[in-house]
Amino acid sequence: MKSFTRHRRLRRTAAMRDMVRETSLSVHDVIQPLFVKEGLEEKQEVSSMPGVFQFSLTDVLAEVAACVELGIKSFIIFGIPIHKDEIGSQASAEDGIVQQAIRLIKNHFPEVLVVADTCLCEFTSHGHCGILEGEQVLNDASLERLVEVAVSQARAGADIIAPSNAMDGYVYAIRKGLDEAGFEDIAIMSYAIKFASSFYGPFRDAGESAPAFGDRKTYQMDPANRLEALREAKSDEEEGADFLMVKPALAFLDILRDVKNQSHLPLVAYNVSGEYSMIKAAAQNGWIDEEKVMLETLLGMKRAGADIIITYFAKDLAVYLSKKGG
Ligand code: PBG
Repeated sequence: MKSFTRHRRLRRTAAMRDMVRETSLSVHDVIQPLFVKEGLEEKQEVSSMPGVFQFSLTDVLAEVAACVELGIKSFIIFGIPIHKDEIGSQASAEDGIVQQAIRLIKNHFPEVLVVADTCLCEFTSHGHCGILEGEQVLNDASLERLVEVAVSQARAGADIIAPSNAMDGYVYAIRKGLDEAGFEDIAIMSYAIKFASSFYGPFRDAGESAPAFGDRKTYQMDPANRLEALREAKSDEEEGADFLMVKPALAFLDILRDVKNQSHLPLVAYNVSGEYSMIKAAAQNGWIDEEKVMLETLLGMKRAGADIIITYFAKDLAVYLSKKGG
C-alpha cells in the first residue's frame, strides 16, 4: 500500500462538496398530502400534527395555491365525510368530499397532479379498510368496492389512483376497472408494501380513521418481514402497477433499497404522520434543529432508493429550497 487514502480531499471546500454530492432533494420529488373535511367552516390544525390542517373545500384552494407558488406540483387527497356507513358509500359518491376536492383543484390548477388515496377507512363506520363479515375484513368483496371508488376518483379528474387498502389483487382489479371505464391512461401508484405500523397514529387523528375494533394486521404487513415485502412488490408490478410505494419509510429504509434493486418502476417512500410528528415535537422542545433533521431524513429516503416522497414536510422543504435559491 503506497499510503492511506485522503477522503477529506473531496470535502475540503463547499464547492467541492457540492460537486461530489450524490443525492439531492427537489420540489419535483415530493407529494403534499391534503386532508379535506366535509362540512368544515374553516381549516383546523391537527393537534398531533403541528402545521397540518384539515381543510374545507374553500380554504383547500388557498393551500394548493401557496404550494404551487413554491413549486410543488403534486398532491395526495384524503377526505373525511360527514356520513359514514358499513360499506363507506361516500368514498365513491359523485359528490363525495374527495371527488369534490379533486374537481375543484383540477378546475383551478389543471397543471398539477392530483393523486387520490383509494381506501375505505375514512368512510366506514367501523374504520376498517374493507367490507366486513362479522369482524372479518373480506378480500374480494372489498375489491369490488375499491374499483367503484377508484373509477369515481378518475371520473372526478384524478391523475393517479393510489390504493392504500392492502387487499390482495387490488392493482389487478383496479387496472381492469379503470380500463373498462375508459381510464387506461390513469396511473396506479400502489401502496405495495404497507406495514401494520404504529407510526400511523397521528394520521388517524387527521383522517378520523382509527379502526373501531381490532387492528389492521390481517391485511397490512408484519414489520418483521422483508422477503414478504419483496413478494408484495413483485406481484403488484406483475398486476400492472405504475409506481410502487414503501410505507412507512424511516424504519424501513432497507426495504426501500431492496425494492429499488429489484424493480425498475418509480419508487415512492411515504414519510408518514408519526415520522413527521416526532420531528415536530422534538423541535418544539428545542431538542433538535427541525430544518436540518427534516433534510437529513428526506435525503436518507432518497439515498435508500426513493425517487418520490409523500411528505407532510413538502411545503417546509419547498420553503427551504427557495431560500437557498433552488
Ligand atoms: C389509509 C391510509 C393510512 C395512511 C395513508 N392511507 C392509514 C392507515 O393505514 O391506517 C397513513 C399515512 C400516515 O400515517 O401519514 N388506509
